[in-house]
Amino acid sequence: MTEKEELMSGKAEIFGCELASGRKYIFKAGSKVATEVAYTSQDTPNVVYLNMHVALEQMRQKSEKDHTRGPRIMVCGPTDVGKSTLCTMLLNYGVRLGRAPMLVDLDVGQGQVSIPCSMGAFTIERPSDVEEGFAQSAPVVFHFGHTSPSKNLTLYNLMVSRVADVINMKCDTFKKVNHSGVIINTGGWVKGAGYETLKHTAGSFEVDIIAVLDQERLYNEMKRDMPDFVQIILLPKSGGVVERSNHQRTEARETPSLPDSCLPLGMKSQDNRTKLVPLMPGTGLLHHVYSLSSAESTEDNVIEASVIGFVVFTEYNPDKNSFTVLSPASHPLPRNILLQTDMQFMDIQ
Ligand SMILES: Nc1ncnc2c1ncn2[C@@H]1O[C@H](COP(=O)(O)OP(=O)(O)OP(=O)(O)O)[C@@H](O)[C@H]1O
Ligand SMILES: [Mg+2]
Repeated sequence: MTEKEELMSGKAEIFGCELASGRKYIFKAGSKVATEVAYTSQDTPNVVYLNMHVALEQMRQKSEKDHTRGPRIMVCGPTDVGKSTLCTMLLNYGVRLGRAPMLVDLDVGQGQVSIPCSMGAFTIERPSDVEEGFAQSAPVVFHFGHTSPSKNLTLYNLMVSRVADVINMKCDTFKKVNHSGVIINTGGWVKGAGYETLKHTAGSFEVDIIAVLDQERLYNEMKRDMPDFVQIILLPKSGGVVERSNHQRTEARETPSLPDSCLPLGMKSQDNRTKLVPLMPGTGLLHHVYSLSSAESTEDNVIEASVIGFVVFTEYNPDKNSFTVLSPASHPLPRNILLQTDMQFMDIQ
């Protein structure tokens, strides 16, 4: 079922993106949106979010004046509290003032930059489309392979540091992006090792602000553990946020690693968490989504190389030992190193 919405007069916006008067917006089944009649309501969390945007803008102006780095904010909190929505709003408000903020999405369960099992970043220079979200102009994407950081914490933290390096390079090259700042979205795993990954993220990106949504415990922990120059702000949950009950959340379940005694002599269990393991051709590889690495050979640092696309193996021919691949690009693929993800895809048409 789809829903239509039309603004007849006045001003209104959806998650920071202004609606055009007289245009019909069509929302697909499953979309959860909130229309805010702009600048009148004082009692919704959106006013708090708007204040957050004002604070970011002041930091941007100061960074321009002082020739320093713009604000870096990490948004965190438990699942379904409106983290992604807050990021979208802050990005939209920033863009509407002519800024070019970067969105970094580290939620490998359902990020806004790419498909699940990956993390990445892109610069935003246009407000999101109300129906389709942000335009995807040249995102930088990295393979993780799983939908929860708990499946390989060592690799997750390594990739977070890698994304931070790429962002720093981008900020060093583009002044406008540097002053506009970085908004970092995270997954909803905030306990135990999940909390440790948040601390690692804050450190890697050298964030100035941590916005904690709807959890005092997390707020207090951050206050206790972060250096004084990091501002920790507790924000209310987004009004009207919808819990997605069918969403399988596996964050809390950590995968035990092999004891060192089960590994080849001299190898530590940590090592095999960031090493490539060759896969044997066979039907077992079918229907998985594979990241196409930008690496040209296995001699390169494949793990930390960016991803240039995704394909799915749809058929296996044992006689030729070959696969049929579903790919958005025509034959031949621009590279030949593929990394398996846990995600599976089957075309049921
Ligand atoms: N003010 C609001 N009114 C109506 N729906 C909203 C509002 N804020 C958020 N939503 C909807 O609620 C859902 C959950 O919000 P969102 O995805 O931002 O939460 P999240 O904290 O990022 O969740 P997750 O932990 O799963 O990443 C989304 O479908 C979003 O569109
Ligand atoms: Mg989210």
